[in-house]
Amino acid sequence: MPDYAKTREHVFAIVPQQHYHLALNGGCGTRMNALALAELADKVVGVDISRQSMNTAAGLAQKTLKNNIVFNQASLLGILFKDETFDLVYSWGVIHHTVNPDQAFRELVRVLKPGGYLVLAVYLKTRLTFVPEKHFYTTEQMQRLYETHGLTFELLNPHTGRFKSTSNFIVRGQMKS
Ligand SMILES: C[S@@+](CC[C@H](N)C(=O)[O-])C[C@H]1O[C@@H](n2cnc3c(N)ncnc32)[C@H](O)[C@@H]1O
Repeated sequence: MPDYAKTREHVFAIVPQQHYHLALNGGCGTRMNALALAELADKVVGVDISRQSMNTAAGLAQKTLKNNIVFNQASLLGILFKDETFDLVYSWGVIHHTVNPDQAFRELVRVLKPGGYLVLAVYLKTRLTFVPEKHFYTTEQMQRLYETHGLTFELLNPHTGRFKSTSNFIVRGQMKS
């Protein structure tokens, strides 16, 4: 069972502390990010491609009596929400696992409202990353992606995360109004 206190602390450290109306947890998995986000938002939508993850996540939400989270089994490559729906989009360790990380990024941006925040954790490409696939990002690539999509860019706590991993970095930006 994942440690909720640790996850909550991590989520609260990287998500700007304000109240959100609608938050998207893209690729929510079985873990507890969505539960922590539910403390900051009126409503959280958790989306994941895996039904098994969805069932576990929904079970956890039920156990903790969180009734402001809904879960959809769907792909981030075609998010079933209109443009500019969410004022917070949070996706930890997901886009680099999809078959088209750039499309996943564009979809996450598309559903973000002006003034809303996009918080991502992605795999880090280093001099030691020999896997040629595109889904390892440098911080500079991520900054370009954020800025060309009209977002501010902030690099948070590079090379760390709730797993003290050296292979992820966390970025955050606000969509210009
Ligand atoms: C490393 S896990 C991270 C889970 C969760 N965000 C967390 O922090 O614990 C990656 C998740 O991405 C999901 N995923 C992979 N491709 C996806 C896609 N195209 N659309 C939605 N979710 C996807 C997987 O099912 C898995 O739950």
